[in-house]
Amino acid sequence: MDNFVDNRVKIAVILGSLREISYTQMALEVAMKGTKLYNNVEIEFIDLRKYDIPFCDDTEMCYEAPSVIKISEILRSSHGVIIGSPEYHGSLSGVLKNLLDLLSSKDFKDKVVGLIGVAGGSVGASNTLRDMRMIIRHLHGWVVPNQVSIARSRHSFDDTGQIIDPQLETRLIQLGQEVVKFAFLHHSPTALQLFEDWNKLTIEK
Ligand SMILES: Cc1cc2nc3c(=O)[nH]c(=O)nc-3n(C[C@H](O)[C@H](O)[C@H](O)COP(=O)(O)O)c2cc1C
Repeated sequence: MDNFVDNRVKIAVILGSLREISYTQMALEVAMKGTKLYNNVEIEFIDLRKYDIPFCDDTEMCYEAPSVIKISEILRSSHGVIIGSPEYHGSLSGVLKNLLDLLSSKDFKDKVVGLIGVAGGSVGASNTLRDMRMIIRHLHGWVVPNQVSIARSRHSFDDTGQIIDPQLETRLIQLGQEVVKFAFLHHSPTALQLFEDWNKLTIEK
């Protein structure tokens, strides 16, 4: 995806939890509120509970599964991506890692990516965030500097799924805004013109 259609910024949001009532989903919903503060933002929510995703065994069959092709199409037509994962044994969830194994740099190249980690324990999800950042770098995505780690997930949301700590809410909203802002900058006609001019420059020896 090189340009905007009707100036619309497309953001794909990936939920890395399969739990029916997921704190990661609740966190992503707050970040999505941040993206919607801008006009012309279109969101595609990738809910892995609704996709039949095979394990990656490095065969054509797994890469060409309809679910993988569908997710790949959503990502390739997006300008930015927000990924939320629960912390599982100090890292991202297996279902999310497996999905990323099935994807490639063609899906993340030129995408601006925001990361959210959600942990049950009091230490938070910084290890999950570090691992996701590293994997997305391998996939040639541009991870924004801000990230959000939620600790003690069960105590961070009320019974209706609303986030309790206003500071955490602000951080999630800012993350959503940052992804839209940099996705826009990354793909705006002015930026693309700058890249073109840059590529035309001859380097004097
Ligand atoms: C297999 C498994 C491993 C987990 N490992 C950790 C962990 O290492 N650190 C932690 O703080 N919480 C851990 N948790 C708790 C989850 O991070 C926590 O329940 C989180 O809220 C799950 O996100 P979800 O509600 O979106 O599914 C683990 C949970 C499961 C099921």
